[in-house]
Amino acid sequence: MASDWRRRIRDAYKPAIGKRRNELMTPALILDLDLARRNIDFMMGRLKGMPAKLRPHVKGQKSVELAQLQLEAGAIGVCTATVWEALVMARAGIEDILIANQVGGPEKIRALAKAARKGRLAVAVDDPRNATVLSEAACAERSALGVLIEIDVGMGRGGVRSPEEAVTLARHISRLKGLRLRGVQGYEGHCMHEPDRAARTAKVKTAMAYVAEVVDRLAEAGFRCEVVSCGGTGTYDITAAIPTVTEIQAGTYVFMDNFHGNLVPGFARSLTVLGTVVIEHGRTIVFDSGRKSIGIDFVQPTLAKYPQYSARYFAEEHALFDVDNRCDLHLGDTAEFIPGYAPTTVNLYDAYHVVEKDVVVDIWPIIPRGPGHGGIWPA
Ligand SMILES: Cc1ncc(COP(=O)(O)O)c(C=O)c1O
Repeated sequence: MASDWRRRIRDAYKPAIGKRRNELMTPALILDLDLARRNIDFMMGRLKGMPAKLRPHVKGQKSVELAQLQLEAGAIGVCTATVWEALVMARAGIEDILIANQVGGPEKIRALAKAARKGRLAVAVDDPRNATVLSEAACAERSALGVLIEIDVGMGRGGVRSPEEAVTLARHISRLKGLRLRGVQGYEGHCMHEPDRAARTAKVKTAMAYVAEVVDRLAEAGFRCEVVSCGGTGTYDITAAIPTVTEIQAGTYVFMDNFHGNLVPGFARSLTVLGTVVIEHGRTIVFDSGRKSIGIDFVQPTLAKYPQYSARYFAEEHALFDVDNRCDLHLGDTAEFIPGYAPTTVNLYDAYHVVEKDVVVDIWPIIPRGPGHGGIWPA
């Protein structure tokens, strides 16, 4: 089923192959493959010699092709946000998958338990009730599901709230059939927004010291953590240097949007959205690429070649700019935007226009768009 969807999307966008990047029908999502590869290599180079391995989060890119490039470069597996993303990755033959969130709802839990018959599938848990339901589903499907106990390291989202709670949950899991406790997850999302590198480092160290304390408490209670999974693009090199951490979950580094790019140097902007100027009045120009085309979360998108102009605002279908007489953009011209936030940009599109040397060489499907199963379920 997933392969039918992939074929349908490829066929639908195939006429774009061979076109130059500035000639595409707009809005168009463009992936510069040379730059994406450079980001993948840069990340692997930075992690060389550090204690943690890379398990890239694919919630932002939702692309089997990109995940495969990351694995070829040395990633140990992938993280997903949803069961459906995990299913797409599993059906593409990726064997080591962590759903780095809690999963709820009978259909999704059943789908997860069924998928766990093959490969190494793990999921985050922070509640004994959820663990019990996962165990029942795994037993019904005769599968084995890995679990990581999520620790709240300061974000206040998922995660057990104390070392005692972690130990109680570990004891509960150890009594359940069909589940195998593999370790812990501690996502320090609250550190990502800290613009000052020294302050960010201090916050990460505090969070990771707490993770180490919980890991020690679990070990004292007889539960050894083979996996300690933390980190994201905004903290990747700080978190990966901490000896307790075995893997980091950075994902957006492959694109580098404005939000992450303002925080983390060294990566190239490989993801853009091509828009067309569809309205021109005096020196106000309006693109056909609004909030339904570009993720504006956290920070504003910018025009790649015209960084001096910031948008007046992004409406649903329009991006408005007040430019000066030096600007050479006029009605009918195209220009590329760097997204404010890549994950909420990719989620809006069926496919990447993959470009090499400014020419579209391939179409890579984005499956599943949105939080749903996107037609890949039931199998
Ligand atoms: C659990 C988890 N891990 C890691 C990340 C980091 O992802 P990224 O590197 O794309 O910022 C996120 C981001 O939301 C997350 O929720």
